Amino acid sequence: MSSVNNTIQLITREQALPVGVPGRAQESCDDDLAQGPWEFDLAEALAGIPGYGPGASNEDIAPAATPQQGQLPQEYKDASDAELESRILAAKAELGERVVVLGHFYQRDEVVQFADFVGDSFQLANAAKNRKEAEAIVFCGVHFMAETADMLSGSHQSVILPNLAAGCSMADMADLPSVEACWAELEALYGTEPDADGRVPVIPVTYMNSSAALKAFCGEHGGIVCTSSNASTVLEWAYERGQRVLFFPDQHLGRNTAKAMGIALEHMPLWNPRMPLGGNSEQVMQDAKVVLWQGFCSVHKRFTVAQIEQARVDFPGVRVVVHPECPMEVVDAADEAGSTDYILKAIQGAPDGTTFAIGTEINMVNRLAAQYPQHTIFCLDPVICPCSTMYRIHPGYLAWVLEGLVAGVVHNQITVPEATAVNARIALERMLAALPKITEPKTTEPKTAASA
Ligand code: 13P
Ligand code: SF4
Repeated sequence: MSSVNNTIQLITREQALPVGVPGRAQESCDDDLAQGPWEFDLAEALAGIPGYGPGASNEDIAPAATPQQGQLPQEYKDASDAELESRILAAKAELGERVVVLGHFYQRDEVVQFADFVGDSFQLANAAKNRKEAEAIVFCGVHFMAETADMLSGSHQSVILPNLAAGCSMADMADLPSVEACWAELEALYGTEPDADGRVPVIPVTYMNSSAALKAFCGEHGGIVCTSSNASTVLEWAYERGQRVLFFPDQHLGRNTAKAMGIALEHMPLWNPRMPLGGNSEQVMQDAKVVLWQGFCSVHKRFTVAQIEQARVDFPGVRVVVHPECPMEVVDAADEAGSTDYILKAIQGAPDGTTFAIGTEINMVNRLAAQYPQHTIFCLDPVICPCSTMYRIHPGYLAWVLEGLVAGVVHNQITVPEATAVNARIALERMLAALPKITEPKTTEPKTAASA
């Protein structure tokens, strides 16, 4: 398997590297990535503090309440890849329809190979809602995705996150008390009365990458959840009902989406939750069309305009496609921006022999490169630096939770309290109804080094 993990193993052992794209260096951002994720569960337990583990989001500060994973039984740590594979397949065969394994595009290949359905967060939310026959949904993704699956699945189903430490550093950048404090300031400033067209002063929109509590906040306050695939449909929905939007936690998705809708940058103040009025003047806030929470994704923050310029020099005619969690300058310099599913469809729809530089998580990019050998596909960032929270899921944990189910034990169940879920579901059902726009593959010529 030409997986990211195998490549990292080869790099750290300084062995011969697999042939990659000519001229692209192969180095990893953190040698600790070569270890099993359980090494970090142990380090956290000993230190008494949770962390995100090695990889791109390792530098972010994990909140004290971040869930910690208990120790994985030794037999799963010691098992070889081949042993884990046969144990997972045996457990899945025994469980049959009783279990469904869902996998996000950013999961390692060693996990994705066992998924019954692989997709982006919007597709996985739908998959969780529509697999009512399964008693257990094993979610190979991150915590907010498993919470969403729990809220959308039936009460007879249990949702399992194989490693509880698989959170999301961006989701952790907005918490309920800070959003409630922001909301109180906005209500004091704007009031609560609708305008002549019946539009309320502000609509809360949370990105899917947020806690269930924030989704419930949106449900309770006339708001909605979005994903990167339906963000523009969701903003249109919000502007039909409100004069402004409070968008959290990802400033970049909010800014990129609003800009594409024609909203000027001066009407998009950034909200710093540690400052009065988010660090803005009253006039700026009055003129706001979208108030952007100061969150970001550390994986997508790694992509730069300089990397795009280099790719255009190295590969004239390269098509640069990036995720909208990237900073605005990067999205502007790219040829296209879209969700993980958009990136997949762009590659599937391209004529043979297209060269793609992709700005999203490395596991997905390398898998696409292997699946579509008719194209040249590489990651814009030459350093291999996976999402450290997605990295926490490993076949060892998957084998542990599946064999637990065979033995009648549910490990790592994610349960959202009903008092939260009831409001969050309102915002999630609005999200599911706000369908992503079908975007046709680009037909224009890619930008050149000179035109970019
Ligand atoms: P998608 O909604 O495109 O799956 O992205 C989820 C995510 O976490 C991106 O960082
Ligand atoms: Fe969160 Fe970024 Fe990882 Fe997505 S890639 S799960 S936003 S840290």
